Amino acid sequence: MDDLIKKAAEDLSGAKNVTALTGAGASIESGIPAFRGKGGLWEKYDPMEVAHIDSFLQDPVKVWNLLIKDMKDVIDQAQPNDCHKGLAKLEDLGKLKTVITQNVDGLHQMAGNTDVIEFHGTFAWQRCMECNTHVETRHVDISEIPPRCDCGGIFRPNVIFFGEMIPQEAHWRSHQVATECDVMLVIGTSGVVQPAAMMPVVAKESGAKIIEINPESTLLTGEISDYLIKGPAGDVMKGIVAQIEKMD
Ligand code: OAD
Repeated sequence: MDDLIKKAAEDLSGAKNVTALTGAGASIESGIPAFRGKGGLWEKYDPMEVAHIDSFLQDPVKVWNLLIKDMKDVIDQAQPNDCHKGLAKLEDLGKLKTVITQNVDGLHQMAGNTDVIEFHGTFAWQRCMECNTHVETRHVDISEIPPRCDCGGIFRPNVIFFGEMIPQEAHWRSHQVATECDVMLVIGTSGVVQPAAMMPVVAKESGAKIIEINPESTLLTGEISDYLIKGPAGDVMKGIVAQIEKMD
């Protein structure tokens, strides 16, 4: 792993334009469970039952009780880990421009990254399904489920449910930065959910080097990624930043 960390530090140092794509694995060390694999949310719940827009429209109370309330508790407690801090440091060092994240927890911004594309939306805000008023999640009273807006409409998190479109601006900009980068770090994503998983493909086709960080191989490994640094994102990012600081 040490040799690959050195190699990544060299690749990042030599790059002009670096983008990171992150997934649930980037936030695991902050106590937020991933979706797939052992201990993942989809082991406990059927995503089509709790995370599809049709399920929410049919039974918002059930989806709020089974999924959204727990997500709120977990995200409320979460703090950036060494992966988020490492990416923020890379931006400070002038090595990283944009983070595209599939996560809705806001931890990249909390760590200090300033250009974060939230591909699947953000849990920091709720929006009323009737009048589209947006209210910060921390100000939404959840003593009654589902929480309601002053107009009587039901609040829903400002995230993408299965069956919904990716916010156009996020999709368009992600495509743009994927086309322009010369290195893409792909951290903690299984690479199975589209269209997010297309971004490394777009970057690769535009000539970028793809560096994957994940304790497991993924669908991208050996196909799209140039190499995989096999390990937890926090340790690996910490190692890469330390190496770059040594080189500077
Ligand atoms: P997944 O849950 O599919 O994958 C998590 C990845 O994190 C796996 O490849 C793990 O091997 C890896 N992993 C585990 N521990 C790690 C660690 N300590 N450091 C780094 N990686 C680690 O999550 P995503 O790929 O993000 O969509 O899933 C994509 C989308 O599927 C999510 O955004 C969500 C979900 O349905 C929506 O909510 C719309």
